Amino acid sequence: MGCAISGLAAKPEFAERNLEDAAAGAAARLSDDQIQIIKDSWKVIRDDIAKVGIIMFVRLFETHPECKDVFFLFRDVEDLERLRTSRELRAHGLRVMSFIEKSVARLDQLERLEALAVELGKSHYHYNAPPKYYGYVGAEFICAVQPILKDRWTAEVEEAWKTLFQFVTGLMRQGYLEESARQRHLALSPKERPEKKNTAL
Ligand code: HEM
Repeated sequence: MGCAISGLAAKPEFAERNLEDAAAGAAARLSDDQIQIIKDSWKVIRDDIAKVGIIMFVRLFETHPECKDVFFLFRDVEDLERLRTSRELRAHGLRVMSFIEKSVARLDQLERLEALAVELGKSHYHYNAPPKYYGYVGAEFICAVQPILKDRWTAEVEEAWKTLFQFVTGLMRQGYLEESARQRHLALSPKERPEKKNTAL
């Protein structure tokens, strides 16, 4: 299960900073070289996306069992080995990997990627998946793709993928917070909502 990377989620400066700034900062730090590295390594990784998706989530549930509780379908599964052959987990892993594919495709149009990631964060508010878990996914992705890239894996490749995940998860967090504030506003201030028109005149 072991995979020696310097933890994405564990970086205190990343966790504590305002993540809107963190996302903008990460975007600024995603250099042209890093964008190229991500695109090149993705060409190899994409042949195995179903496998990576499963490995990533089984590892996530092993290392952070609290994440499993968020998934209605998996929360009662005790034997994680069984999940390796689960059609549902495969489908879920593929949805997440397709998002990563879209992210890679939008590396030259970062504002479009930003909008997508913010929307994804908003939908995660409704899935009850809080931002404190998002960083774990990047860390598990890195562990899952390392053996696929074999000797093509370098410190630069790791840093480039970490930066992309920090960028995406920072924006997801922003979307989650925006949606949570919007829902609080809707719940707390019914008086501020426009009066319903009485059409029964
Ligand atoms: C980098 C981090 C993550 C990415 C890129 C990601 C991406 C996605 C995507 C693309 C979907 C498909 C539905 C949609 O587009 O709204 C999805 C669904 C979902 N995600 Fe995430 N996710 C991440 C982290 C997490 C974490 C950490 C959890 C839970 C702890 C989680 C829980 C869920 C749930 C419950 C669903 C709905 C069920 C489903 O579609 O199978 N996600 N996620």
